[in-house]
Amino acid sequence: MGGPAVSTVDTRVKLGGIALRNPVLTASGTFGYGAEFAPFFDLARIGGIVAKSITLEPRQGNRPPRIAETPAGMLNAIGLENVGVDAFITEKLPALAAGVVVVASVFETEIDRYAEVCKRLSGVPRVAGLEINASCPHVKSGGIEFGQRAEVLAQLVRATRRATSAPLLVKLSPNVTDIREMARVCEGEGADGLSLVNTLQALDIDIETRRPVLSNVLGGLSGPAIRPVALRMVWQASQAVRIPICGIGGIMNAEDAIKFLICGATAVQVGTANYLNPLAALEVAEGIEAHARRHGVARVADLVGTIEVPAR
Ligand SMILES: Cc1cc2nc3c(=O)[nH]c(=O)nc-3n(C[C@H](O)[C@H](O)[C@H](O)COP(=O)(O)O)c2cc1C
Repeated sequence: MGGPAVSTVDTRVKLGGIALRNPVLTASGTFGYGAEFAPFFDLARIGGIVAKSITLEPRQGNRPPRIAETPAGMLNAIGLENVGVDAFITEKLPALAAGVVVVASVFETEIDRYAEVCKRLSGVPRVAGLEINASCPHVKSGGIEFGQRAEVLAQLVRATRRATSAPLLVKLSPNVTDIREMARVCEGEGADGLSLVNTLQALDIDIETRRPVLSNVLGGLSGPAIRPVALRMVWQASQAVRIPICGIGGIMNAEDAIKFLICGATAVQVGTANYLNPLAALEVAEGIEAHARRHGVARVADLVGTIEVPAR
């Protein structure tokens, strides 16, 4: 697609009511609360940051070891470690420069508590939108992730939708049989957009001790190993719903991100790559713009959903 190179590219996109200067955000849990990365680059040069997921009360998380390297990726089971919603509002948000777009990520173990966190974040001027992390174990459903059962996911989205009028993204779990069903549930309950995917449930073993490598036994797999799975899910979900999608999973460079845009993602998030290169998100944003310029694409938004599927 495209034509002769263009001199300027409009990189702006709109993600479920959140205006972004370019389509690149950082993924929750991989970029702290943002201020940790401010020494590396001006955070206002990327689309935005999705902060570490927060709960009602501060939490410590799991015992170490809670991360481990895997081929082309990593396993993590950090647990619910975070400063809690009140300290997020009073300490973490004010530490960010005025031009930085912040999406607050919310997680909890019960639906009422999710709704309460959303209420507290509503109307906080620095919060551009909320991302509901539906990959947490739901205590009342016996520890199954909220996003793994359509009826539980529907209740969660309904309750959080009622709790806030802020732009509401729902971050889906990839640990499901049919991502299209989950995407439709969210759209039906009033979500403004979807983020997908979170980590894939996984396990690794130390053969000398015969123990799992993580104290939590199970962890979440992220990084390039999951990218083709994430691309498949973004493509399938984008065909099932009309709300915008933020693609996540193994994005290490601009080329990877452009694949997500082509598969139907309006924006992307960079996660594990931040651990290798703190400038990763900025380089992805600049690389997308350069690609669009070279290919004569005047608006980055014009790349979205341009996948060419051969007739079969
Ligand atoms: C160490 C670590 C911590 C994470 N913490 C969170 C979190 O608090 N909330 C959340 O929604 N996702 C969390 N994630 C998932 C990422 O946001 C992202 O969805 C996932 O890692 C896939 O993207 P990636 O392959 O680019 O890392 C975490 C991932 C990692 C590696």
